[in-house]
Amino acid sequence: MERTLILLKPDAVQRDLVGEIISRLERKGLKLVGLKLMSLSSELLNEHYSHLVSRPFFPEVKSFMQRTPVVAICVEGYKCVDAVRLLTGVTNSREAAPGTIRGEFSMSMQANLIHCSDSLETALVEVPRFFKPEELFEYDDILQDYVY
Ligand code: PPS
Repeated sequence: MERTLILLKPDAVQRDLVGEIISRLERKGLKLVGLKLMSLSSELLNEHYSHLVSRPFFPEVKSFMQRTPVVAICVEGYKCVDAVRLLTGVTNSREAAPGTIRGEFSMSMQANLIHCSDSLETALVEVPRFFKPEELFEYDDILQDYVY
């Protein structure tokens, strides 16, 4: 079973799209195993976006991600890294497919609502970057215990 990291960016928080996006993750069949609101430090962002430091838009990425707290989510599911990427749509929201989160709700490359890990290798680094072990939960489907 895979786990992947999702960040609901400041534009998702500001536009009251947190519930809509979490609802889409749930309806897809992904299991929430970590969920919290957090302010991102400069150090954490330098690490998280280290592959972008030489890009001209890097300072803007950092300041944007610090405009409001973000919602950090870890979901679990069979091959969920790619499933979440499909649900999210491509980075440039203007080109994101209709039906995807970015395709439905954004026209921006920067304010593209959501970050998600781009591969299983990345997810294995990003999940522990944002979640301590005790903030991630394992639980079973309990509904079969309550059929009455
Ligand atoms: S790239 O260009 O292939 O490295 O892009 P990618 O790794 O998919 O994501 C880059 C992240 O930077 C944010 N961002 C921009 N990307 C490209 N061009 C511009 N102008 C830009 N401005 C901001 C973009 O939202 C990606 O953020 P994450 O959090 O990874 O989705």
